[in-house]
Amino acid sequence: MEAEERRNSLVIKIPDNFKGYPLNSFCVPAHYTEDLAEILLPCGLILDRVERLAKDIAIHYEDQSFRALCVLKGGYKFFADLLDRVRQYNRLSGQSSVPFSTDFIRIQSYVDDKSTGNVRVIGLDNLENIRGKNVLIVEDIIDTGRTMVALLEHLKLYEPREVKVASLFVKRTPLSNGYKPDYVGFETPDRFLVGYALDYNERFRDLSHVCVISDTGRKKYANDPM
Ligand code: HPA
Ligand code: MG
Repeated sequence: MEAEERRNSLVIKIPDNFKGYPLNSFCVPAHYTEDLAEILLPCGLILDRVERLAKDIAIHYEDQSFRALCVLKGGYKFFADLLDRVRQYNRLSGQSSVPFSTDFIRIQSYVDDKSTGNVRVIGLDNLENIRGKNVLIVEDIIDTGRTMVALLEHLKLYEPREVKVASLFVKRTPLSNGYKPDYVGFETPDRFLVGYALDYNERFRDLSHVCVISDTGRKKYANDPM
């Protein structure tokens, strides 16, 4: 394969001064109209970018299998859509294909919009089955980076062959520990994002577009899990 093809695609950087799209340019559930400030990324654009990430990932593995590890709950939409596109690649590419299996884990570290610093890995599949395997961690967002660094440290115990990380979003924040994933969909401004499975106290997982929460939404759902 040509070197050019092997290079990962370009991350889309959303500038700090990007105002987003007005809510009434797209369809937004009526129960959230007061709770959102703007649409940062319409779902259609996310899916087009996910398609390209799937291609980057398929080219990386090229005829090797991998275990896709979904970080619940926020990662479930990205995980499902990304793997759909890897399946599509396998159906259509004809030349190479990349078999994969799936595992699910849950990590808790956020209350309201704050990273608590206490990272707990819970509800695991038996991680013994990653021993000696290629693992692709699929995460919704890297914010401070603390959760991912802690997870990578935890997974070392099981001695996987290789670990790669795909995160749909990486936030530009002064609180970042500098961690950079292998595959990134979008680099975003330092705003709290909801939708496409990203939540605020369990709200907004039923929203398709990625939006910025409004002050009203933030107050309404503070410490009030659905
Ligand atoms: N939104 C939802 N969950 C998150 C975020 C965010 O902006 N950052 C870290 N976890
Ligand atoms: Mg997450």
